[in-house]
Amino acid sequence: MSQRIQAPRGTNDVLPKVAAKWAQLEATAAKILARAGYGRIETPMFEATHLFSRTVGEATDVVQKEMYTFQDNGGDSLTLRPEGTAPVVRSYLEHGMHKEPQPVKLWYLSHFFRYERPQAGRYRQFAQVGIEAIGSEDPAVDAECILLLGELLDALGARDTKLVLATLGQPASRAAYREELQAYLRAHEGELSREVVDRIDLNPLRAFDAKHESTQRVMAGAPRLIDRLPQDDLDHFEEVKALLDAADMPYEIDTTLVRGLDYYTRTLFEYQSGALEAAQNTLGGGGRYDNLAEQIGGPHIPGMGWAAGVERMIMASTLPPPADLPVDLYIAYEPGHKAPAFRLASDARRAGHGTRLELAGRSLKGQLKQASRSGARYVAIFGDEGVQLRDREGGEDKLVAPDTVMHHIRGQL
Ligand code: HAM
Repeated sequence: MSQRIQAPRGTNDVLPKVAAKWAQLEATAAKILARAGYGRIETPMFEATHLFSRTVGEATDVVQKEMYTFQDNGGDSLTLRPEGTAPVVRSYLEHGMHKEPQPVKLWYLSHFFRYERPQAGRYRQFAQVGIEAIGSEDPAVDAECILLLGELLDALGARDTKLVLATLGQPASRAAYREELQAYLRAHEGELSREVVDRIDLNPLRAFDAKHESTQRVMAGAPRLIDRLPQDDLDHFEEVKALLDAADMPYEIDTTLVRGLDYYTRTLFEYQSGALEAAQNTLGGGGRYDNLAEQIGGPHIPGMGWAAGVERMIMASTLPPPADLPVDLYIAYEPGHKAPAFRLASDARRAGHGTRLELAGRSLKGQLKQASRSGARYVAIFGDEGVQLRDREGGEDKLVAPDTVMHHIRGQL
C-alpha cells in the first residue's frame, strides 16, 4: 500500500461543527461592519511578490522567511498573500477609489498564507476578518476602527480580552530612536542578559520584554519612543485616546508594543485574550499605515485598519453551537418503492422542508431507527399498500396516496 496522504503541516480541515461557527462569525462581522458603512472586498489569493516586499518590509520575518513565493509559467514572481492590507490598498489605487467619498471603508474575510512554525493558533493557512479605512488621517477613523474590533469580539463572546494601544510616529523618528536605544543598551552591556546583548543590532526593542532582573532595572531608565515623537504625532495619539475615552473603551498603553509588519505609522493596537496561550494571545490588531500607498507607487493616501484571526477568535469565544435545521420529514421505503420515495424527497425539499431519504440500503427496521434518530416530525413509509404517514408528535398512522403526502403535512408544519 502506498503511504496515506495527509493535509500539509499547519493547515486545518474545517469540519461541519466548526464550519457552522465560521458561518456565525461571518454573519456577525457582516452585520457589525455594514452598520459602520463597510463594503466587502475580495482580492486575489496571489499578488506580485513586490507588493509585499515593499510594504510589509524586506527585513521582516514575514518577507524573509514566511512567504509562499513561486514563479508562474510566464516567469512572473508571485506570492500567496501573507496579509490583506497591501492588496486592499493596491486595489484602492487600481480602481481609482480616491474619487469616492473618503475614507473608503472595506472589509474582508479571507485566507492568508505564512510559512510559520505551526502550533495551536499559528498556522500556515489561516483566515482573517479585516477592515481597511483608506483616505483619511482623522483620529476618529482610528478610534472607530478600534471600537469595531472590540464590538466584534464582544458579540462573539471572546473571553478575557484587553485592548493594548501604542503610537509609532513616522519612520524617521523611529530610526533615530532605535539608534539612541542601541547606544543606551551598548553603554549598559555589562548589566544586560546575554540574549538582550545578542539582539541589540537586530531587535533592540525586545529588551523591554526581558524577564532578567538587572536588564529590567536598566530598561526602567531607557529612553522611550513616545518621548521622542514630534508634537503632531503626539496630538494625533491624544485625540485617539480621548475618543476611546468618550466611548468608554478601556485600554492599556504599551509604549514598547511591536507588530511584525513595517508599514505602520502612528496608531498601533491589538486585542489580547487571556483565554489563549501567551505566544498566540493576540486575537487581532492593526494600526495606521499612512505611507503604504506611496510605497507601491501611489500618491500619499493615509489608511487605518486591522485584522483578526478567525481560528483564534473561535478558540477564544463562547459562540453557542448553532441549532441544526429541523428535519420535517423522513422518507423510508420497502424494496421496489425507491423511485416514488425519491420523488417525494425532491418535492419536499423544494417546498422548503428539511427532508431525509434512506441512502444506504438499510432494512426497513434500520430505516425506522434512522428516522427516530433524525428527530423528524413526520415519517413516510412507502410500501405495497401506499404510504403510511406517521406523525411522531402524536395521532394514528394514516395510509395515504403517495401524491397526497405533501398535502397532509403542509398544513401542520
Ligand atoms: P497581523 O498582526 O500579521 O496583521 O495578523 C493579524 C491577526 O491574524 C493576528 O493577530 C492573528 O490573530 C492572525 N494571524 C496572523 N498570523 C497567523 C497565523 N500564522 N496563524 C493563525 N492566525 C494568524 C495583519 O495581517 C495586518 N494586515 C493587519 C492590519 C490590517 N493592519 C492594518 N490593517
